[in-house]
Amino acid sequence: MNPGSVELGSVDNAFSQGGNRLCFIHPEDPTRCIKVLREDRSPAIKRGETYFPKNLKPLKYFNDNLQEASVYRKIDQCVGEPAYELIPRCYGFVETNLGPGLCSDMIRDSDNLISITMKQYIWTYGKDARINGALQSFGERWAELGMPSRQLLLHNLVVRCVDSVPVQLYLIDGLGWPDLVPLAYWSKRLARKKAGRRVVSLHHAIDRLLHIKHNKQDYGPHGWLLPDERRAV
Ligand SMILES: Nc1ncnc2c1ncn2[C@@H]1O[C@H](COP(=O)(O)OP(=O)(O)O)[C@@H](O)[C@H]1O
Ligand SMILES: [Mg+2]
Repeated sequence: MNPGSVELGSVDNAFSQGGNRLCFIHPEDPTRCIKVLREDRSPAIKRGETYFPKNLKPLKYFNDNLQEASVYRKIDQCVGEPAYELIPRCYGFVETNLGPGLCSDMIRDSDNLISITMKQYIWTYGKDARINGALQSFGERWAELGMPSRQLLLHNLVVRCVDSVPVQLYLIDGLGWPDLVPLAYWSKRLARKKAGRRVVSLHHAIDRLLHIKHNKQDYGPHGWLLPDERRAV
């Protein structure tokens, strides 16, 4: 390993993973997290699963870390500082023993445990009055700022709680307009309209999750943290 490279240990040290990346607590700074690509979801594998004409795109389009870093640069230009009320700050790439890692703020509750996802919160507590307040503020601000994203997925939102009360939601994945020609980066009016629609869909996604739970169906593979995975510093 190169000197200066961050040692994350084995993949089992990840506190969480999504469909594409493994997430680690930064070993030298627990206020930050480092995400590396899953080996079984490499850009080449992902590209291999797509069809013409998408499979002609260069590999970097299938690298979630590179895409996310590039969207952060666009957000800095189009939205600026207020965006960080709604997304973690991103500190760029660090070299790790598991490949290039994208480093960002770890969202933690006031007791220092890693915050749970919106999916886990709704599944556990339902759509209670407390989450409604945080959801309302998040939605209004998201639309007002015209934040660029794909659909707002419940396992890509985390709920920061202070003394067990949800105070702020953060989108930790799924940033960027997915359109072939993403005009909304240049038109604030269009961005606001599209972001507003994402918020409406988010409310529908919550209703769907509650329906799934009510019918005793499966939670699904992603977005659940066990107590020891939320481990404090
Ligand atoms: N900055 C963060 N703060 C707290 N938890 C996070 C953060 N980033 C990711 N997570 C947790 O890790 C999970 C997977 O992260 P994600 O970035 O969505 O991976 P993927 O890109 O593979 O979908 C999330 O559902 C969330 O529980
Ligand atoms: Mg995700």
